[in-house]
Amino acid sequence: MARGRFNSSNKPSEELPKAKLNRENLRKIRGLLKYLSPYKAKFITGMLFLFLSSLVGLAMPALLGAMIDAAEGKHKFNFIPSNLTIIGTTAFIILFVQAFISFGRIRLFVEVAEKSLADIRRNTYFKLISLPMNFFSNRRVGELNSRLSADLSQIQDTLTTTLAEATRQLVLLTGGIVLLFVLSVKLTLLLLTLLPVMIVIALLFGKFIRKLSRQAQDKLAESNTVVEETLQGISNVKAFVNEAYEASRYDKNLREVVTIALRGATYRGVFVSFIIFCLFGAIVGVIWYGSSLVMHHELSAGVLTTYILYAVFVGGAMGSFPDLYANIQKAVGASERVLEILDEVGEPVSMVREENAIRNKLQGNLSFSDVMFAYPSRKEITVLNGVSFTANAGEKVAIVGPSGAGKSTIASLILRFYEPQQGSLIFDGKPSAEFPLTDIRNQIAIVPQDVLLFGGTIRENIAYGKLSASEEEIIQAAKRANAHNFIAGFPEGYDTVVGERGVKLSGGQRQRIAIARALLKDPAILILDEATSSLDSESERLVQEALEELMKNRTSIIIAHRLSTIREANRIVVLEKGRVVESGSHQELLQNEEGLYRYLSQLQFDVS
Ligand SMILES: Nc1ncnc2c1ncn2[C@@H]1O[C@H](COP(=O)(O)OP(=O)(O)OP(=O)(O)O)[C@@H](O)[C@H]1O
Ligand SMILES: [Mg+2]
Repeated sequence: MARGRFNSSNKPSEELPKAKLNRENLRKIRGLLKYLSPYKAKFITGMLFLFLSSLVGLAMPALLGAMIDAAEGKHKFNFIPSNLTIIGTTAFIILFVQAFISFGRIRLFVEVAEKSLADIRRNTYFKLISLPMNFFSNRRVGELNSRLSADLSQIQDTLTTTLAEATRQLVLLTGGIVLLFVLSVKLTLLLLTLLPVMIVIALLFGKFIRKLSRQAQDKLAESNTVVEETLQGISNVKAFVNEAYEASRYDKNLREVVTIALRGATYRGVFVSFIIFCLFGAIVGVIWYGSSLVMHHELSAGVLTTYILYAVFVGGAMGSFPDLYANIQKAVGASERVLEILDEVGEPVSMVREENAIRNKLQGNLSFSDVMFAYPSRKEITVLNGVSFTANAGEKVAIVGPSGAGKSTIASLILRFYEPQQGSLIFDGKPSAEFPLTDIRNQIAIVPQDVLLFGGTIRENIAYGKLSASEEEIIQAAKRANAHNFIAGFPEGYDTVVGERGVKLSGGQRQRIAIARALLKDPAILILDEATSSLDSESERLVQEALEELMKNRTSIIIAHRLSTIREANRIVVLEKGRVVESGSHQELLQNEEGLYRYLSQLQFDVS
């Protein structure tokens, strides 16, 4: 767990793009809309249902008002029947139709949203795992995770609820205003001189509140990162007795969240009070005026009732817009972030397993030709500076050198996790670019410096090297890797679940599982990045034997710290500060009195 983790330029608050509802943003969102198109028919039907049910809903106030007028023996509108029974029955029929339509609408919208969101989730995940390594070195796992969960949930919410609600309110608003005019021009003119002023104030207010709530969200996201990182590095936290430090860091973050949230709440409270008092106050004023019109027989009581109901509809619709608008804005922001991932260029790997099958068999000849490399995230530091070496098919080539010399970087380049800025890697006499990426990775296996096992059973972890492996093959590989005995010693054997990071297994055991995995893969080229952690001599012997077994019949690149393990290598490449300073066989290198290899060997064993 790095101390400087908050110095990274990826603070959540900085990367949350402003989600203005402008034309450019909406155009970008179209990229997501294509995920709706397979479900277009259902979506449009849902919209139609929604539109219909809102429209039908507008008939209710008219019918209720007509009932009151009918009870008083008055009849105001020709298009509404005067018979109470007929009016009542019509109202019930309308309610029934509305209930039916609402059911269909909800069912359809949820189906469309769930299915299209699953498609987006799937594609985002596919894209994410096919992105080049460099993408991951610049980002935090937690942040990427939240794009898959929080951002997509926001989009889903908007699709299922907000969009529908906005449509409904829009119909109620426009229909309501038209009907208000039909009922009483005088009253409506009064209403409409009051409302727009308030709408403008409400919108400005809403904008301000949204800014505050975004700040609170960012802060919260930041405190979540603290939790995630401490849990990931929990052993570090404990080992350094830094619980108090982490707790105070989290606490400080939380306090800030609360402060910002409370400030937001204050303004939101004022906003709601404003809506209640002014907006609904306006309606009360209008009713007041309306009642005086009834008193002077300019309106009937039934029409006034109808009128009031419509006014409530219109007021309610206006009041609901700031929230709806904020929700849509959030969804636009979320879409932008998701699209950012979807628009990245991934590596040429297919999500259909068969399509990644090996097309060109590798013989196992590998050479580095004047390779110059700097990590894309730290361009100014040249890690490899003109590295050249050759490993012919079947040879063992060792790479030794001080820590930080660039040995693991060479392994990453062979796997084509990164491309060199200059020079090239040559497989079987051809530049690596001439091979499909998957052909190279499929025929290289790495036993890494730090073996990370997936949460799952030991069997699954070994089978990761060849997903189609049979039970016999798995056991055979484990035996050859000297892993079978300790696995069989577990009560659950191959079904033993290893923790998220294989915590239940020792370093040597994990290594042997990684070796079994590599054996199953049966690669043309093998990379061993030897762990620095020293094993006891018995485990070392077991691991060494397993490695010897693994290295048979293939090209091996051995990154070694313990020089005793590489005496037999065909060639030893000595790397220092990204340059090859020496190369040759063990004996040849020892001849060089001034050589780094001789010096390193002297440190490790007697060479007299
Ligand atoms: N993902 C990365 N992004 C940026 N720089 C990196 C990255 N990985 C390694 N480096 C830098 O590249 C240099 C070489 O690192 P590398 O891991 O290849 O060393 P190494 O020879 O394997 O060392 P060790 O023997 O300790 O494993 C180091 O200075 C390291 O800080
Ligand atoms: Mg290394």
